[in-house]
Amino acid sequence: MNPESTSIQNTTQPIQEKTKWREDFPVDVPLDSYISRREFVKFLVMISGAFTLGQFWIAFMTYTRKHAGPALTQKIAGINDIPVGGYLAFHYPDHRTTCLLIRLEENQFVAYDNRCTHLMCPVIPQVEKKELFCPCHKGHFNLADGRPIAGPPRRPLAKVRLQIKGGDIYATGLEAATL
Ligand code: FES
Repeated sequence: MNPESTSIQNTTQPIQEKTKWREDFPVDVPLDSYISRREFVKFLVMISGAFTLGQFWIAFMTYTRKHAGPALTQKIAGINDIPVGGYLAFHYPDHRTTCLLIRLEENQFVAYDNRCTHLMCPVIPQVEKKELFCPCHKGHFNLADGRPIAGPPRRPLAKVRLQIKGGDIYATGLEAATL
């Protein structure tokens, strides 16, 4: 069979036109989806760099929190604003941090940062059970001292130092959640 007649049967475009199209758009599809070792290493370096930067950022934030100036004294509420067994939420030491003030007895108050020390979900006081409960993974904390008593959390809740003066309750500092 004549080779020219074969090429005419297999294509509808002249051979010159095909070549021109290839010159204008020299994209090699199999090669285009090929990831070279260099590109892969570049990707790994970028991911590792972002991760390292994140670690430095966390360390920096922890350091600045620990070495911040003198603790802020802030009025939370009047003693008579909370009944025995009651609680209220407030922001301390900044507007992003929510804390809970709980009245355990007539003259006994406790306050904690309400972020669970497992994965930061907000905890809920269950005064009748004498505990704070984290619904995310069923974490339990002792209401009287913030220690973890069941579930995944291993560290106690960060405690807010309190001072009672002239019938009012003040927050005077935040104790870091430690082991
Ligand atoms: S976030 Fe509280 S138990 Fe997991």
